[in-house]
Amino acid sequence: MLQEKYYPNKEFAKQARIKNMCEYQELMDWAKEDYEGFWDHWAKEKIDWIEPYDKILDESDAPFYKWFVGGKLNVTQQCIDRHIDVRKNKAAIIFEGDRGDRQIITYLRLYREVNRMANLLRNEFGVKKGDRVVLYMPMIPEAAYAMLACARIGAIHSVVFGGFSAEALRDRIQDAEAKVIITADGAYRKGAPYMLKPVVDLALEEGCPSVEKVLVVQRNFEDVIWIGGRDYSYNEMIESQPDTCEPEVMDSEDPLFLLYTSGSTGKPKGVQHSQAGYILWAQMTMEWVFDVKENDTYWCTADIGWITGHTYIVYGPLAAGATTVMFEGVPTYPDAGRAWKMVQELRINQFYTAPTAIRVLHKMGEHEPEKYDLSSLKVLGTVGEPIDPPAWKWYYDVVGGGKCAIVDTWWQTETGGHMISPLPGATPVKPACATFPLPGIMAEVLERDGTPVAPGEQGLLCITRPWPSMIRTIWGDPERFKKSYFGDVVKEGQPVYFSGDGAVVDEEGYITITGRVDDVINVSGHRMGTAEIESAIKKHPHVAEVAVVGRPDPIKGESIFAYIVLKDDVADSLGEEVELTKEINEVIAREIGNIAKADAIVVVPGLPKTRSGKVMRRILRAIAKGEEIKQDISTLEDPSIVEKIQEAVRCAGC
Ligand code: PRX
Repeated sequence: MLQEKYYPNKEFAKQARIKNMCEYQELMDWAKEDYEGFWDHWAKEKIDWIEPYDKILDESDAPFYKWFVGGKLNVTQQCIDRHIDVRKNKAAIIFEGDRGDRQIITYLRLYREVNRMANLLRNEFGVKKGDRVVLYMPMIPEAAYAMLACARIGAIHSVVFGGFSAEALRDRIQDAEAKVIITADGAYRKGAPYMLKPVVDLALEEGCPSVEKVLVVQRNFEDVIWIGGRDYSYNEMIESQPDTCEPEVMDSEDPLFLLYTSGSTGKPKGVQHSQAGYILWAQMTMEWVFDVKENDTYWCTADIGWITGHTYIVYGPLAAGATTVMFEGVPTYPDAGRAWKMVQELRINQFYTAPTAIRVLHKMGEHEPEKYDLSSLKVLGTVGEPIDPPAWKWYYDVVGGGKCAIVDTWWQTETGGHMISPLPGATPVKPACATFPLPGIMAEVLERDGTPVAPGEQGLLCITRPWPSMIRTIWGDPERFKKSYFGDVVKEGQPVYFSGDGAVVDEEGYITITGRVDDVINVSGHRMGTAEIESAIKKHPHVAEVAVVGRPDPIKGESIFAYIVLKDDVADSLGEEVELTKEINEVIAREIGNIAKADAIVVVPGLPKTRSGKVMRRILRAIAKGEEIKQDISTLEDPSIVEKIQEAVRCAGC
């Protein structure tokens, strides 16, 4: 059955950069016919090069692809300096604090703030090109200054999401061997102060010899411990820094940042991004997908701890010379109208958020958007997880008033920028469908042997040609990089990038993402490896074995469901299971952070294993969903275990 389509608003389409599907097709055909020529054109047109590149794409060491080889640039010149002549008094960042406080940071002020912070890092802390700087920051303008200050002097930043625990932060500091940490005393959430610096203190208590200095932005001025010779107040030091700073001349392929993300096995991987390819695609997608214009105000609600915050709060909007809104709080505080009030007051034109947030806002205030003037909105974006048709419809009808384009953008930490997405002035969309690959992106849904799947069949979502903003490697582990992304699908003898997602293509070529096909789960748009959560849970002294799966959740997309086998000596003597659940969640919070807490923890007598000892997660997923087990269980070492697990789940009331 053909799904209902929604066509672009005609008035909007007239002024859009890509105005119709013919224009889209022309761009795509150009890329298909002359791939390098296509990218060469955009790289020359969009980037302010310090020195031109001499090779567009080097595939000689695949999959370690290199783009714009030999080119020199500095990403902060692309994001700031080149705007000074034309838009120095334009708002670069509009900051809204949790308690409603606002700051407007013009491009000229941004230039000064970034340069001062860059000078501080370079001259006071001795940070040099290639050094790693970890940012553990709230959503305040200084977080953006810090990222850009690193880029200015060629240091590699690694932002760690503020919801991660001290242990998780320590792992990331150690893996990157960071020289400096930039943090804040804390910030505000839901009207109250919360703290970050104590988490940094805990992380640095042991095993971080690489860290020399900690720079602390004082945001909420709560008491924190200061360690002499290590901890420095940004607020005090910044005053005396000069506001110009010579940008480091960077090679196209020098690393710009690391961002740790979860895989299906092992510890989080430090996804490494480049300078030129990354910034090019960040800017181009900002222009094509959000169609941001000179006088627009754009708001992405992500946190800078995730890739969305990197590409679509900081780098993309600033490279495009846009006005980007940064929000410290949560869209539901003080009430479910907060986000809509901000849209009204700031006259937001593009609004970009996650399906979980849309579902929460819908649930908390179905008619809330109608109380506000949302007529400024033109493009509504969604990202991070599949959106369900009811949430999509509400977003379209009630938030967008039936006149806004919805761009359901599929991409990943590893892709750097959008890959599959509607173009707001061109693409007829189907609800909850990411539609088509962007021009220049060769996305295909394949079988493992590289053959395309038939329409309507699920396959593996792959990118069959390298693209400029792609992951370059996993920090310190090139073999893992190859194995994780180029080990599963081979097309015409060539390993191609496999995303870990499943997808379906319909008869008209529309691509719908069906979700991860590996052991990665997506809770409220936060990506987590089941292996990581399992290894945290195993640290509880009573746990012998554990298996974690995702279970569909009406708000969060997926929730975490853990099956636990207790050690023999405690299994009988254990009193309250409630206590155990609490304790296990405390272990998870300590090892990873509150975001990875399990919603259901069930003690079971054993796990469904094959004779070779492999846990059959498919069975566990089906039980968690309350589904009938249809697959053959006779190959299990102990087929009777399935019924026992089902019984345990029933008893636990999960
Ligand atoms: O499963 C896909 C899902 O989020 C994963 C990437 O997570 P992360 O690297 O944390 O980046 C999130 C923000 C880009 C993907 O493998 N995902 C992302 N966007 C969508 C999506 N699933 C369905 N629809 C989307 N639009």
